[in-house]
Order: sequence, then structure tokens, then C-alpha cells
Amino acid sequence: MRLTVAPTPTLRFRRLRKSAALRALAQENTLSVNDLIWPMFVRDGAGLREPIASMPGVERLSVDLVVKAAEEAATLGIPAICLFPYTDPAKKTEDCAEAWNPDNLANRAIRAIKAAVPDIAVMTDVALDPYNANGHDGLVRDGIILNDETIEALVAMSLAQAEAGADILGPSDMMDGRIGAMRAALEAAGHKDVAIMSYSAKYASAFYGPFRDAVGASGALKGDKKTYQMNPANSDEALRLIERDLTEGADMVMVKPGMPYLDICHRVKATFGAPTYAYQVSGEYAMIKAAAQNGWIDGERVMLESLMAFRRAGCDGVLTYFAPEVARAIRDGRA
Ligand code: PBG
Repeated sequence: MRLTVAPTPTLRFRRLRKSAALRALAQENTLSVNDLIWPMFVRDGAGLREPIASMPGVERLSVDLVVKAAEEAATLGIPAICLFPYTDPAKKTEDCAEAWNPDNLANRAIRAIKAAVPDIAVMTDVALDPYNANGHDGLVRDGIILNDETIEALVAMSLAQAEAGADILGPSDMMDGRIGAMRAALEAAGHKDVAIMSYSAKYASAFYGPFRDAVGASGALKGDKKTYQMNPANSDEALRLIERDLTEGADMVMVKPGMPYLDICHRVKATFGAPTYAYQVSGEYAMIKAAAQNGWIDGERVMLESLMAFRRAGCDGVLTYFAPEVARAIRDGRA
């Protein structure tokens, strides 16, 4: 850090802010449609769209309409979508067997999307919570979330998703050792080119509330996720988790939530230089939407500023429910 700077008027930072042209020349970071991953919620049935009260503008879509949304994503140039199933409560069990059913909702959606829009990358969620009677990401015995037994289930789930045509698997469960086990199983089954984006630094966050409504897990969840998700007070631990997951075979790593954890995003990118992503989670989306609906902020400008912040922090891309809105703003020259 140089502490002596030339005095004004030699150095006037405002010179390069004088006009749009000079500001454009001096701009350090950019936001492009290539940086977006669009998370979507899938439900049973046909021709059905169901609003999610705590996520204005986001809907649960039946498979046929998810295919339409994937087509829209492709038209907008969004490179990837990410699927989250809303599972019929009657299919939620303690052994979570629906998670690796080749014909479960998520796998049917993957097949339908890959058949209709083969060029879009389809990312999945690998965790047991949508299928678990008690709402946890892992198998539970006597109130304990079991690590190693859960990994066996996650491996079965991963193989079913890879078989259905998933391009990127997204383990969001935070069990220890799952990346290595998934990678070995994918190799052995001939799925050598299926990528893994590890939710490596996933915090036990209150910002996930609206998502749990969206996938119907809020009512089911018994207790909290603090024995497997990270303590929001920690940051060195995030780097150790990222290093571990990269060593075990993750191709991409994620920090989650996003905006409250930009310091982590920055440290991760600066330390490892690996493909780094953030998840701008449901609570972040809901806060911006709610304030915008009240007329308290300019929703579009806050949306764009929040996404640029991820780029500035070093993220290669962002999972965001704003993806189609951002893509349209960029297409129409407003970003
Ligand atoms: C669960 C999962 C969660 C999210 C993605 N996968 C919630 C949780 O851990 O309880 C949160 C996404 C969001 O809030 O937008 N495996």
C-alpha cells in the first residue's frame, strides 16, 4: 500500500468519471449473461404454475413448463439452470429412497429438458432434504445426522441424476467426504465428464427461509442444520473445506449465501483461483423484492448492483433467482 499520493489537482479521480465513455473505459469488472445460473422449482402435474408467496416472481413449475423456462433461458443466453424438486409429502420417508428413484420428479425434469434444449447445462441438487420425512439433508438416526450412511445415499442419487443427463451435480448436503465418493462412483460408472459444483462453504443461514417454503421443507424440518452446515462466524474453515473438495475432485466450488459472505468469495478466489460461484439465496432475493415492492428501493438497480458485487469479489458466476430479469436487462441495454 502506497501511503503518499499526489495531491489534487495532479490526481483527480473524477476525470475518469466525467462521461459514460470514460467510465466505460475505466470499468474494472463486467456482468454478463454468461455469469448466470437460474435456479428453478419443479412440481408434479402438467400445465401448472404455483406462486411462492415468500419469493415474488418465482413459481413452482410442472415439468412441461420447466422445459418452457429452459427454452427461455437458452433464448436469453443463460448457460445453466439448476433444478429443485417440490416432492409430494407422501413420498417423503426416513430412508429417502425417492432421492435415487430414476423416475423421480428431478430426474424426469432433467430428461425432458435435455431432450428439448440439449445445449443448456442442467445442474442438480444432491441432498436428501426434499425426500426426507424430517427435512434434513442427511439420514437421521436417534436425532443424529449420519455422515457415512448419507454419503452412500448421495452417491446413488448422483448416479441416477448423471444417468438422466445432468451436466453439473450440486451437492448441497455438507457431509464430509461426499465429493470423493461421488467422483469415484461417477468414474466407475463411465460418467467421466459429469462436473461437480460443490456447495463447499455452505453456512447454517437464516437466509434460506423462503427456499424451504418453496420446496416444502419448512414444515418438515426438525431442529436446525448446525451440525453439518458452517458456523457464520468462521472463515478459515471455508478455505479448508474448499481445498478439501477440490482435492477430492470438485470442478467448481460455491459459497452460500452470497452477499453477506462476499469476504469468503474473495478469499476463495484469491487463494485457489478455481472456478468460484456464489448462491444469492432465497432470503437475499426476497429482501430485494420486498423492498422494491414497497417502493423503498429501485429493484432493478439494486439487483444489478448486487450481482456486480459478486463479480467484483471474484466470483465466476452466481446462482440467482434474478437470472431471467438480469438477462433481459442486459439484452435491452439497461446493464
Ligand atoms: C438444501 C438446500 C437449501 C438451499 C439449496 N439447497 C436450503 C437448506 O440448506 O436448508 C437454499 C437455497 C436458497 O435459499 O435459495 N439442500
